[in-house]
Amino acid sequence: MRTLETILILASLLSFLTDASLLPRSALASRPRLSPGGWAPFRRKKEVHVGELPKYFHEPDGNKALHHYDTRYHHRELPYDDKQDTQLHLIRSYLEYFQKHGMETWLAHGTLLGWWWNAKLLPWDWDIDTQVSVATLRFMAEKHNSTKYTYVSSLDTEFDPATSKQVPVTRTYHLDVNPAIYTRYRNSGDNVIDARWIDVRNGLYIDITGVAETMPKESPGIWTCKNYHKYKSRELWPMRETIYERVVAKVPYAYERIITGEYGERAIIMEEYEGHRWSPVDHVWYKKNKADEKIELTEQMEARKKKQDQKVEKLNKEYEEEKKKLIEGEGERKAKEDRAREEAEERAAGGGRESSKDRAVERRSFTGNILLSQAAAELQQSERQSS
Ligand SMILES: *[C@@H]1O[C@H](CO)[C@@H](O)[C@H](O)[C@H]1NC(C)=O
Repeated sequence: MRTLETILILASLLSFLTDASLLPRSALASRPRLSPGGWAPFRRKKEVHVGELPKYFHEPDGNKALHHYDTRYHHRELPYDDKQDTQLHLIRSYLEYFQKHGMETWLAHGTLLGWWWNAKLLPWDWDIDTQVSVATLRFMAEKHNSTKYTYVSSLDTEFDPATSKQVPVTRTYHLDVNPAIYTRYRNSGDNVIDARWIDVRNGLYIDITGVAETMPKESPGIWTCKNYHKYKSRELWPMRETIYERVVAKVPYAYERIITGEYGERAIIMEEYEGHRWSPVDHVWYKKNKADEKIELTEQMEARKKKQDQKVEKLNKEYEEEKKKLIEGEGERKAKEDRAREEAEERAAGGGRESSKDRAVERRSFTGNILLSQAAAELQQSERQSS
């Protein structure tokens, strides 16, 4: 028994040491390119920190809003409209770039939810999320890492102060691939984002995460990212080609199951969210303004008051009913007592009646006897007379 245990421990130690994350880059490069088995396995239960690299992408410290900027390009917090405009061109340029280079990418998380509603970004969302397969991720690392891409919008123009003319929106984006992509362990969670597409003007970015078939032998057809999101092959592929923010895009095959699995049914039903209201007429999420909020607050207060009034009314009704029941109960008790008393009286009176009844019966038989004896005497007398 002991030897078997030793063998098992040695075997697991050996597999541990041959993990991709512990091997030099040259050894990694010699692995078959598109084989999912070439990626270090995924172990959720044992939170092992294998070959962990320092955190690669950095966000400014401070409040949560700052987490949406890449430190290298962050100068200031953007107002709502600038954020919307930045994100619009982030996703358009990204989708265009990936399409142009034949790299398959698809919408994920809140970005996919936005597609479900109206094929647009959710206006309150600071995150933009896309996914790629690890094969694409490796290709990105090898062929496109550190690209600074200049995008010229074919859809939008903006005012150029230098020339005082409307010119196509032109921006530069930085594609940066995390060197920690070669291990698929979550580890501390510092490197769960595999790549970023960053607006170099202000540091807002798209988070790109890879999904790998991390345990092809134990769980074939199960794809996971480093942050434990899980998909079946048939949920992802074949991808559906669609439009997002007026650009060609892809969504996973079973998009609705993925969305409701992640956010619940509420996410595709609720028409108010984070200070925005869905317009079923325009198919747009509108940001609620101060006046809307004021009206809403009054409505809420009125609704609350109404609810309270209803509660009081209900309590009063319950109280009245309880009281009525008590009174009825009292009446019933009295009636019962009366009935019992009457019965007792009847019984007492009935005793007399019974004896008079008896007496009546006795009297009747006595009378009968008298009558009989009388008749008999008369008969005897007549017989005597006749003889
Ligand atoms: C991508 O490039 C950066 C330098 O710009 C480098 O630090 C990083 O390690 C590279 N990523 C990969 C996966 O090689």
